[in-house]
Amino acid sequence: MSHELSHIHRFAPGNRREATPLLLLHGTGGDENDLLPLGRAIAPGATLLSVRGQVLEHGMPRFFRRLAEGVFDEDDVKRRANELADFIIEARKRYDLPAPIALGYSNGANIAAAMMLRRPEALAGGILLRAMVPLKDATPPDLHGKSVLIVSGQSDPIIPPINSAALATMLTKAGADVQQKVLPVGHQLSQADLTVAKAWLQDVETATVT
Ligand code: MLT
Repeated sequence: MSHELSHIHRFAPGNRREATPLLLLHGTGGDENDLLPLGRAIAPGATLLSVRGQVLEHGMPRFFRRLAEGVFDEDDVKRRANELADFIIEARKRYDLPAPIALGYSNGANIAAAMMLRRPEALAGGILLRAMVPLKDATPPDLHGKSVLIVSGQSDPIIPPINSAALATMLTKAGADVQQKVLPVGHQLSQADLTVAKAWLQDVETATVT
């Protein structure tokens, strides 16, 4: 764990320099250790930068404040998305990295979506697991050239697939190349998330190289 830079994080250098680094963003109550195994499985050999959210909800780390489950403090979402995008700039300088692809789960996926909308230059793309629309009044940015995978759970009681679909539409209208997959699961991550995300990332990396 590193307290250097503005956010607590872990940096795990990879042995495949050509692989796009992943920015790992945990769900509510998680921390910077949670998604390292998933990141390693989805992108073997890629550099991983894993961040801890700076908001505490009853002691549980998150990336922004919410008023109730699924009801966000949008001013805080904007502020925290900005701060996280600034952290990415710091970390890219410190560790000499290209723009990362975000791998976010739940609250982490939602802050990644907010960065896409507010600070699109911070990310090369995103794998958003159980994501929803984080900002209702977002001015569409220019997301041409960004690839995004949104993976939803058919029976997710917290983030219904219809809300993920609204996010997919929003990002597509802004020019991103978006794929949405709906798995026969709930809010928890499953083996299928890993399989789908890994295949998607391989396609994106191959398309970038060729
Ligand atoms: C959020 O607050 O970002 C969503 O409700 C998902 C979660 O429970 O973290």
